[in-house]
Amino acid sequence: MTNRNFREVLDLLDQKGDLVRISKEVDPKFEMPALMKQLEEEGKAFIFENVKGAKHPSVGGIFTSMDRYGLIFNPDASEKYSFDDAGGRVLSGVANPIENIVLDKGPISEEIFIDDAINLMDFPVATFFELDSGPFITSAVGIFKKPNGVINVGFYRCMIVDQKHLLINASGLSDLRKSYDWHRENNKEMSVAMVIGAPPPLLMAAASKCPDDVSELEVAGGMIGKGIETILSPDSGLPIPIESEIVIEAKVDLNNMIENTLGEFGNQYGTEDAPMCKVTSIMKRKDAMFYNVMAGRAKEHNNLGYLTIYGLSKGVCAKIKESFSFVNDVAIHFDTKIGPLMHVVIAIKKSSDDQPAEIINKAFNLSLGFFNLSWMAKRVIIVDDDIDINNMDDVEWATWTRMGRAEKMHLFSDFITWEIDRAALPDKTSLRVGIDATKDMDYFDELVKPIVPGIDQINLKDYL
Ligand SMILES: Cc1cc2nc3c(=O)[nH]c(=O)nc-3n(C[C@H](O)[C@H](O)[C@H](O)COP(=O)(O)O)c2cc1C
Repeated sequence: MTNRNFREVLDLLDQKGDLVRISKEVDPKFEMPALMKQLEEEGKAFIFENVKGAKHPSVGGIFTSMDRYGLIFNPDASEKYSFDDAGGRVLSGVANPIENIVLDKGPISEEIFIDDAINLMDFPVATFFELDSGPFITSAVGIFKKPNGVINVGFYRCMIVDQKHLLINASGLSDLRKSYDWHRENNKEMSVAMVIGAPPPLLMAAASKCPDDVSELEVAGGMIGKGIETILSPDSGLPIPIESEIVIEAKVDLNNMIENTLGEFGNQYGTEDAPMCKVTSIMKRKDAMFYNVMAGRAKEHNNLGYLTIYGLSKGVCAKIKESFSFVNDVAIHFDTKIGPLMHVVIAIKKSSDDQPAEIINKAFNLSLGFFNLSWMAKRVIIVDDDIDINNMDDVEWATWTRMGRAEKMHLFSDFITWEIDRAALPDKTSLRVGIDATKDMDYFDELVKPIVPGIDQINLKDYL
């Protein structure tokens, strides 16, 4: 099974002329992100070889589209890969996880720093936006042991506090947040290893919401048909992929929560409390490259982030279809162009005007195990089965052409929301919208789309 590592993917981009090397000195505060943003818009990966104050180059702009995952897995290294290919690859790893292999050493242990030798300032960590509270590591996947003994891996943003301290943020959706809560309540010590430049399949698995009893490390193994090679971290014995660039191992102080702010993937600032973490070791390759993912609404962050809900949304669609015999199909749109939350579109074969409201209510209250759909979904839109639910233009068209009565717009103000819905009220509730964009039964046959009869069978090619 083809599986190219982080450096091989960078080399491929270099060969294709899609890797830009910048040797001029850049300031990691604002100047580097300004350039990263422009390079990303042009589809170029980058290496900043000379970052002010840092001992290592800064790389990124790598997985800026689904197609780029083709560089990892396609034998011919073509940039052709769909969202279903990427999400499906992760789900195949979830279905057939493969245990990691533990070795004594590897590229990641070429250099190990402890005690006074630890210095986070050696790394070219970007400060992205005007109101950010400091420099943030955005590409790191955190590895830790959950209370159930399973090794967990997820992306968690980290703010650098000083040479030996950082804040590791956990959203309400994350297993890390649950682990923080458990360790605090049970007064137990907790360690997290933040891995920068992890093997690409692990980046994809870490971004994905995986079942509680399956380790993302083993999911990544399943995605490539062999266990990820690891060594154990010096302080807490956490398994670290040997083919990583840098690992920062830290002890978490759950009784010292510090406020921090970063421009988030939904194009808003997010202020969060995260625990102060004391670095206990740093491991790295001799010539380590520091991976910087552009923060905010940016292609690489969002592309990885869309994987978060792939498996989850498949489950939601199946549950909604199961619950109503008249539901034809369900699509979930999670696209930061329309905000940080999900928009659920449900196509029905309608036989009564009451059906859409019934589904809207049930859909928002659908239990996903750890929360209801309303927590993550801003809008539920019901359409007729002649609408292409995967095409938001068609869905918007239905909304603004088939909604003639005010009662077809359902507004809810009492649902508790995910914290990334930054417009929420202090009691954590936020607006939810249900839209009945179906044709009313009284006008059902009049509100049809104009269609040229036979257009699907008549082919222009046959006339030229
Ligand atoms: C670039 C990037 C940055 C992210 N930053 C955070 C973060 O700071 N905190 C967080 O909880 N989730 C963050 N996420 C989302 C999580 O990685 C994702 O929800 C993952 O499934 C969490 O794993 P877990 O549930 O095993 O903890 C980020 C995702 C990406 C792609």
